[in-house]
Amino acid sequence: MLPKINPTQTNAWTALSEHFAKNDFELRTLFNYNSERFRQFSVLRENYLFDFSKNLIDDRTFQLLQNLAEECGLKTAVQNMFAGDIINETEGRAVLHTALRDFSEEEIRVDGVNIKPAIKKVLNQMKSFSEEVISGRHKGFSGKEITDVVNIGIGGSDLGPAMVCRALKHYRTKLNVHFVSNVDGNHIAETVKELDPETTLFIIASKTFTTQETMTNAESAKTWFLRKGTQNDVAKHFVALSTNTEAVKEFGIAEENIFKFWDWVGGRYSLWSAIGLSIVLAVGYENFELLLKGANETDIHFRTAEFQENVPVIMALLGIWYRNFHHASTYAILPYSQYLDRFPAYLQQGDMESNGKCTDRNGHFVQYETGPVIWGEPGTNGQHAFYQLIHQGTEFIPADFIAFVKSCNDVSDHQEKLLANFFAQTEALAFGKTPIEVQDELRKAGKSEEEIRKIQNHKVFHGNTPSSSLLFRELTPFSLGQLIALYEHKIFVQGIIWNIFSFDQFGVELGKTLAGRILPELEDKEEVSSHDSSTNGLINYYKNQK
Ligand code: F6P
Repeated sequence: MLPKINPTQTNAWTALSEHFAKNDFELRTLFNYNSERFRQFSVLRENYLFDFSKNLIDDRTFQLLQNLAEECGLKTAVQNMFAGDIINETEGRAVLHTALRDFSEEEIRVDGVNIKPAIKKVLNQMKSFSEEVISGRHKGFSGKEITDVVNIGIGGSDLGPAMVCRALKHYRTKLNVHFVSNVDGNHIAETVKELDPETTLFIIASKTFTTQETMTNAESAKTWFLRKGTQNDVAKHFVALSTNTEAVKEFGIAEENIFKFWDWVGGRYSLWSAIGLSIVLAVGYENFELLLKGANETDIHFRTAEFQENVPVIMALLGIWYRNFHHASTYAILPYSQYLDRFPAYLQQGDMESNGKCTDRNGHFVQYETGPVIWGEPGTNGQHAFYQLIHQGTEFIPADFIAFVKSCNDVSDHQEKLLANFFAQTEALAFGKTPIEVQDELRKAGKSEEEIRKIQNHKVFHGNTPSSSLLFRELTPFSLGQLIALYEHKIFVQGIIWNIFSFDQFGVELGKTLAGRILPELEDKEEVSSHDSSTNGLINYYKNQK
């Protein structure tokens, strides 16, 4: 069980409200008066630096935020999660994705049974299967080696593995790994266009094995495969990753081709489980194990470090500060790495499906803000698109900047240019450009006073936009594992403080149910009148036009 404390009823919340009302938190001033600020508000870990000094906080803010975590029972909650308590209370499940990457001898029990041997068994199965496929020993039905792998899944059964496979492209094996998620038939059609059934392996990734999009794509994949292969050949070309063995067998996949996982692995936390099979095939088992070990390093840090040096805890507390006191409705994730181009999209599910909730753990509707909108794109591309609004718009948008010191590919001075932009943006956002600085600059450029007066305000940057920077030494499977786990725990901490259940996702159900009701209505020519006038109008237009 998790603590069920309304954060707004804590002493820390009251103190933070007063503290917020009384102070300006001007970054220029905060830096001018404290030459130790970077040292004080950064955490140096073995292979990365977390700099949070460009945030709108002082010593007292930082202390009060930690008090808030303390008063909301964070320490107990962390212990409860790692111990395998039923902390996903609305679904009656433990939350143990951390066990999947724990290579220690420590036993972890669910319903009295140590789950470690079962985890090990599936890892071994993934290892040997991937070795067979990568080495070419596993042959397709016509005796040819597998060249292409198609992962069919959606949500957590797609976003995590797809993001990691892109991020670790530098470490790839010879296999081409593709991802099909959308029920839009164009997705599977375009993917298989270039492929040959004789050399293609399909991974059907679905925790429940009932998800409409995945089952539809899986059926279409099978139909495409059966144009060349036979039902008997399916075994060599289809494997499933699921908790639902019966449904997989019914689909026609043999039991030995099932990679199991368990209901204590949440969909959006499942890339560490059998759902990671596409990753294993894309980068090899050794690299997958390094990814797990990196995540485990963050788990140990999260479990053991004091709040004031605990990176995910600090990330979470800063997010709470901006969401609930500054009322920021969005949060930008800005990786300065093209390899991380799907990281913001991955985090959208991780964060928004977890903390986009309005009912607290006591069953009451909350009277305060919970999860923000998460969005972002890699830098420097974003700089030429939406940064204008962050710099000079009317929205207050805190951001995380993520970069790697060393590039995987040494291409002339690209890396210096990339990093120069990374550093420059956090500086520009924090300190901006004052009217006096603008005037000086324009005078130096020979502008008249009249010209200066007209243009001046358009060139002012108010600054004071906070950001945190995560600067890793290198993008490796290990450091990627660390990074992903930092965000997983950030999300967990925020959910604890907001007193919501982060591990269910009832918000996705209504749309699914309604789509299920509408589907049969699309089959005939009859005019539909069972909905509101807008929905009827849209459906009838569709039926008339098709
Ligand atoms: O959209 C809801 C959801 O349940 C996600 O949480 C999950 O990651 C996704 O659907 C896919 O579910 P499954 O793996 O069961 O197909």
